[in-house]
Amino acid sequence: MNTPSKTAVVTGASRGIGAAIARRLARDGFTVVINYAGAADEAEALAGEIEQAGGRAITAQADVADPAAVARLFGGAEAAFGGVDVLVNNAGIMRLATLAESDDALFDSQVAINLKGTFNTLREAARRLRDGGRIINLSSSVVGLTPPTYGVYAATKAAVEAMTDVLTKELRGRNISVNSVAPGPTATRLFLEGKPQDVVERMAKQAPLERLGQPEDIAAAVAFLAGPDGAWVNGQTLRVNGGII
Ligand SMILES: NC(=O)c1ccc[n+]([C@@H]2O[C@H](COP(=O)([O-])OP(=O)(O)OC[C@H]3O[C@@H](n4cnc5c(N)ncnc54)[C@H](OP(=O)(O)O)[C@@H]3O)[C@@H](O)[C@H]2O)c1
Repeated sequence: MNTPSKTAVVTGASRGIGAAIARRLARDGFTVVINYAGAADEAEALAGEIEQAGGRAITAQADVADPAAVARLFGGAEAAFGGVDVLVNNAGIMRLATLAESDDALFDSQVAINLKGTFNTLREAARRLRDGGRIINLSSSVVGLTPPTYGVYAATKAAVEAMTDVLTKELRGRNISVNSVAPGPTATRLFLEGKPQDVVERMAKQAPLERLGQPEDIAAAVAFLAGPDGAWVNGQTLRVNGGII
């Protein structure tokens, strides 16, 4: 008898790292909920691609910064598939400026999406995830690297790592693990947009493995934590960055 597929909600999965995670988890046998904020066409195309390959996926629009929308996201997944087993908190934005030059909008938007957004989904997951579940939060290696202009972005990701550790303890007794994955520079729109080619090439050489991460590199680490081999890993931040730090 086939065991029923586990359900994974991946936030911000219309492109980039989130899309690679959705593809990989679907390949690993998860039913995937592809969350997005605005890019409906990209999300639908990805769901179609996953179904075409024999997987199971639906799309779900929700701005993670909106608590009511996040509650609806979980409600929709439960209605469709009976419950949620895995949450991947991937939705995020990056706005760079020195602290001196950061305006209120730069601060507020990153706190709203990266920090409050992660809080919103963690709160729902803590209340609703099925026992035996997994939570994986996307942090960033800039929490350790602390380069100039990354102050607010790195602060939101440091907060994500802190909530990861606290929630690990609060979920004692439910057999739910909570971990963070902290990528280094990865070839997506978030990283590449607005950077001259020479800057991209220089940053690609910074890691001892001398290349940019690919979304699939990050998805592989998330799949490990979501799958059977990751069962004993809990409360950790796994830096996936070619050795940059
Ligand atoms: N790329 C890197 O170098 C790197 C390094 C370290 C960490 N990370 C982290 O990895 C995660 C994914 O980044 P990425 O590089 O794949 O970025 P990306 O290519 O810009 O993709 C971001 C995704 O998040 C979605 N999103 C944005 N705001 C949202 C919101 N309010 N609600 C729901 N979804 C939202 C976007 O969908 P819509 O277009 O529909 O809004 C998109 O699908 C982020 O948390 C980022 O901080 C990235």
